[in-house]
Formats: sequence, structure tokens, C-alpha cells
Amino acid sequence: MNISMRYTLGLTLLGGSALLSGCHIDMWEQPKMKAYYESDFYTDRQASRALPEGTIARGKLRTDDAFTTGKQAGKFVAQIPAEAVKSFGGPKAMLDRGENRYTVYCAPCHGTAGNGNGFIAQRGLGFWQKLPATLHQPRLLKAEDGYMYDVLTHGKGAMYGYASRIQDYNDRWAVVSYVRALQLASGGNVPAAVTPVAVAATPAPSEPAEPTPAPRVTATPAPVEALPATDAAKKEQEDLDSAMSKLTGDVLFDTAKATLKPESQIFLTAVAEILKKNPDSKVEVGGHTDSQGKAASNLSLSSQRADSVRDFLTSKGVAGSTLLAKGYGSAKPVADNSSSEGRAKNRRITLTVQGGAN
Ligand code: HEC
Repeated sequence: MNISMRYTLGLTLLGGSALLSGCHIDMWEQPKMKAYYESDFYTDRQASRALPEGTIARGKLRTDDAFTTGKQAGKFVAQIPAEAVKSFGGPKAMLDRGENRYTVYCAPCHGTAGNGNGFIAQRGLGFWQKLPATLHQPRLLKAEDGYMYDVLTHGKGAMYGYASRIQDYNDRWAVVSYVRALQLASGGNVPAAVTPVAVAATPAPSEPAEPTPAPRVTATPAPVEALPATDAAKKEQEDLDSAMSKLTGDVLFDTAKATLKPESQIFLTAVAEILKKNPDSKVEVGGHTDSQGKAASNLSLSSQRADSVRDFLTSKGVAGSTLLAKGYGSAKPVADNSSSEGRAKNRRITLTVQGGAN
């Protein structure tokens, strides 16, 4: 009796569930879209959906080149890849973005000027904790852009990496560009030890010892040669020399042209900051070439190049009346024109603070 009742109940339950499963659709037989079939479901009537932005095909993930790692063949790249500058549509936009990201992610520790005195350094760290580095130390001034990128990405010592927070490679390079601008603009904070090295790389035009008494193309009046008179002018000259030491003509311009390369505009933006700090001084922008080619075309190329640098600096807010652009052609070599190294040094732009200023 008892047993037969249980049996009946069991059968009823089974029957019920069999009925229920009749109106249920399993996942493997539900209606579905086939790729490339037309469909009413989406308004564009395509069953295939576009890939989400940023999707990378298998095997196409870039993990080994200069742009994504800051290294090429195991060595840090010297300069920010042009690809990154292009992605922002120009150096100004890149620096702006860099400033923005730097302010969010780096300034709390390294300070808005990169001196290592951000508010976390001032208030949030115990005496036993490592202080953030000043970004203006000699070793870091000389470090490659790729090294900066690497520190930002993977961290260094007590500093953790920012790869997960600054995910976009372009943004990382933008921060690097801004750190570079801070370093160049810091001027006064460049330790004295660095300056002679920087000057040696590109001797200043006011250097007294010229290798040969080169023939003058134009009768240059004395003031150009005169050493800066005051301490302020001297310091401005040192800052400019240090900022310009990386900027040979080859870095600034395409071969035989006077148009500025996008990468170099970042550095000139920093130079503009130095000039704006010294609004009362007059500065000569000198263009120089090597001795190859015709003297006349060298002279005109050098003045066109000096003009482009002047125009760029004024576009960054430096008063045009304080800048004097002048082309010297090959008349003022600072190195031997018979070697290609020497010629590269001679192709340059010089910024000379005029004597008696300020
Ligand atoms: C939470 C604090 C903190 C933040 C935020 C921070 N750093 Fe650092 N950073 C440090 C400390 C601490 C050091 C020193 C690390 C050491 O030497 O052990 C350092 C060192 C460095 C160095 C020098 C590395 C070297 O070779 O000595 C660079 C360059 C640097 N940071 C860049 C950045 C950049 C760029 C950002 C923003 C993306 C950033 N840091 C954000 C704390 C910070």
C-alpha cells in the first residue's frame, strides 16, 4: 500500500517534468546568428558585429618593439618614437596630454616640477620610506627616453610600475615627453656638474677658440660675440646651452629642409619656457651649416632654419621682439668639416643671449 502510493507519486512527477521539457529550448538549438548572414536583429542588418575598439588579432600583439617596450635590440631607445608624437597629431597636444597624466600619476610623489617634493613625499611617507627621486639629477637628465618609459612601465626600486594605470602606450610616451620638458625647463635645477658635459657636446657659439679664423660671410658686429654681461644672462645662456645640447640640425630638421621635425618641437617647447622666464633679454637664433655644397645655398638654408626656430618659439609665446634670427651658413664651424661627425656638429642652431641684457 505504502509502496504503491510512492510509486504513483514518482510517476506523476516524472510525467510532469517530461511535459515541462517539451516547451523548453536548449541552448544548442536556440535561434542564432551566423556570421555574414543578413539579420533583422541589428539595425545595420548585419549579423557580424564589429570588433571592439583595440582588439588585436592573435599573433599581432606588439611586445617587442621600441614603441611598446622602449627598447630596440635590448637597448633603450634614445628618443620618443615618432609614431607616438604622430598619434597625438603633434608635439603640443602630446605635451598637454603628458602634463595631464603626469599631474594625475606622477606629481603626487615627484612634485609638479619634478623635484621629488610632491605632497605624498611631504606628508605621506614615514622617515623609513624611500623618497621619490628628483627627476633633475644628472643621471636622469642623460638617460634615454626609452629608460624613462621603462621606469614608468615597470617601476624601479621602491617605485611600482604604472603599466596598469597608464595602459595606452602613447600616453606613456606623452608622460616621458613631459618629464623631458620639465627637465629642460628646470634650468636652475640642473646641477653644475652636468652643464660642462652638455656644452661640450655642442660648443656654444660664444666659445672663444674657433679652429680656424673662418672667412666672414657678413660683417658681424661685435655684440654677437660678446659674452653675456650679467649673472642672469649668464645663467640663461647656460640653460639654453644645456637645452640645446641635444638639438643638432639633424635632430631639428629634415635633411636640407627648414621644416621642423615633429619630435624636436617638444624640446623647443621647453626652450620657449626658458626664454619666457627671461623676457627682458634679447636672444639671437643662429643657423649654421657644414661646409658642403654652395656657400650661397648654405647661407640661405641656415637663415631659413633660424627663421623657423624663431617662428616656432614665438608661436609658443616668446615675444618676437626679443628674438633675432640670423643665418651664418658655414662661416662659424665648431668642428672639423672633413669628418662626417664634425659636419654633423656644425649643422646646428645656436641661441645666444646678447650682451648687456638685463
Ligand atoms: C607613490 C610615489 C611615486 C609615484 C606616484 C611615482 N613615483 Fe617615480 N619614484 C618614486 C620613488 C620612491 C623613486 C625612487 C625609487 C628608488 O630609487 O628605489 C622613484 C623614482 C623614479 C625615477 C628614477 C628612476 C631611477 O633610475 O632612479 C623616475 C624616472 C620616475 N620615478 C618616474 C616616475 C613617473 C614618470 C611617474 C608617473 C607615471 C612616477 N615616477 C610616479 C615614487 C613615485
